Amino acid sequence: MPKVISWSTIIAWMVIDPMKVLVTYTSRTSNTKKVAQAIYEEIEEEKAIKEFDDVTTLDNYDLVFVGFPVENFGPCEKAKEFLKSFCVGKTIVLFITHAAPEYLKFVPGWLVKCIRAASESNVGAVFNCQGELAEDVRQGMLKSPDPMIRLWAEKSSKTKGQPDATRIERARLFVREIMEK
Ligand SMILES: Cc1cc2nc3c(=O)[nH]c(=O)nc-3n(C[C@H](O)[C@H](O)[C@H](O)COP(=O)(O)O)c2cc1C
Repeated sequence: MPKVISWSTIIAWMVIDPMKVLVTYTSRTSNTKKVAQAIYEEIEEEKAIKEFDDVTTLDNYDLVFVGFPVENFGPCEKAKEFLKSFCVGKTIVLFITHAAPEYLKFVPGWLVKCIRAASESNVGAVFNCQGELAEDVRQGMLKSPDPMIRLWAEKSSKTKGQPDATRIERARLFVREIMEK
């Protein structure tokens, strides 16, 4: 005979064992960290926030927001390593920053590489936004033999202050939509 589980039992389970969410990230110059902080603030469930370096296991979390910057047209090396070492079989949401504006035609390809790096996880959703380009990176790009990279460096003053309040608000909205699902 099938066992009938009452609503009161389900609610009791939810109270006893509430959903646990982790926001984890790596960030050289705090752009991704800013987004991580906003995401963390928006989550109403039981939550924690940690840099990649402070994570030892994800076993205790039902949902993990994983944030990192694009470096060299794909996920940074630290993110690749983190996704491989900790996120296999986990349900994750990616949040990614990059210096290019979101509409640049190359951005979708970089995001695909990020999602591929998480191919052994269940990627529920992806958020991305522009972040300020650090001065040392800009200087390096100005010396590149590739004229397009030099051009991006010349235009990079437009990244100043990113992610700005509008982009941070977009990150907050993204979280509200995810958590309602
Ligand atoms: C080594 C390096 C390579 C980068 N490569 C790219 C790139 O390919 N495309 C891009 O849009 N931004 C690139 N960036 C810029 C970062 O993605 C961007 O500034 C990001 O917001 C930095 O985030 P963080 O402050 O959290 O580290 C690169 C930055 C570094 C340091």
